[in-house]
Amino acid sequence: MSAPSSPSLARSPAAPVTAPSVLVTGAAKLLGRTIALALAAKGWRVAVHFRDSVEDARRTVAECSRLTPGAAAFRCNLGNETAVRNLLPGVIEKFGQLDAVVHCASTFEHDDAASFNFAAMEKHMRSNAGAAIVISQALHTHIAQRCHTHPESRGTVVTLLDQKLWNQTPDYVSYTLSKAALDAANHMLALALQPLVRVVGVAPVHTCSSPMLQGEKLSERHGLPAYLKATPLDIQTAVLLALQDDSIAGTTLLVEDDTRSDAPADHG
Ligand SMILES: NC(=O)c1ccc[n+]([C@@H]2O[C@H](COP(=O)([O-])OP(=O)(O)OC[C@H]3O[C@@H](n4cnc5c(N)ncnc54)[C@H](OP(=O)(O)O)[C@@H]3O)[C@@H](O)[C@H]2O)c1
Repeated sequence: MSAPSSPSLARSPAAPVTAPSVLVTGAAKLLGRTIALALAAKGWRVAVHFRDSVEDARRTVAECSRLTPGAAAFRCNLGNETAVRNLLPGVIEKFGQLDAVVHCASTFEHDDAASFNFAAMEKHMRSNAGAAIVISQALHTHIAQRCHTHPESRGTVVTLLDQKLWNQTPDYVSYTLSKAALDAANHMLALALQPLVRVVGVAPVHTCSSPMLQGEKLSERHGLPAYLKATPLDIQTAVLLALQDDSIAGTTLLVEDDTRSDAPADHG
């Protein structure tokens, strides 16, 4: 039986289908892990990508598999183009097919106008933008091949951006440039890969769990009000929506938490 052309997350128990499969990059821990578990809870078979976090990846696979059987881990340095080009074929070989990718992994190293250098820029560009483009190409090729026998086959790429692109600060120059490149790439890929593959960006504000930008510190540093922080639940909800809703394509969902008690009242 083939996977659904557009994997529905709300499955009818009366109509069982092969579990749709998704590759989540950077899924060993933090937001990637949260997203992987949320997808497994909704019936997706998850390919858990990781680089260095071997034990965390193993744990994420075990927990995903308890929710939907068949999760597996895939190690890849997304800064290495050859390794990136081998990633999807490896997942497809193991899973039989792939329906979606959530590109969550990112290099996130501090620099600023004074410390900026080409090496830092290239490192961020490779894993954060280049890898996402190569993986999107590969998903498109895979879906096009599936269309020979199942013309209804469709795929989705969701990339994690950063609301910093819309609320600029002067730090993390190389990281921000790579996310700006990824945002531009999303728009081009959405045009180039449609109608077989939808491309959607999800741009969170900083979560309280962000390892380098803790909530109060972030507010102090950049004068951002505390409500301008997303929770992992907000972000996973946006990713699920992007995967679920076929009408969302070539755009970016901006995620922030305006339900907190310190958010301004809506007088509209
Ligand atoms: N957390 C936030 O507040 C926040 C805010 C805005 C946007 N975002 C975006 O949301 C996504 C997740 O953020 P996060 O804070 O949860 O995680 P993160 O610290 O940005 O990184 C997630 C994972 O990326 C992997 N990674 C980094 N460089 C890699 C490379 N060259 N090759 C392969 N994997 C690599 C690492 O895997 P290993 O540990 O296995 O090496 C790491 O665990 C990112 O795209 C980030 O830009 C996050």
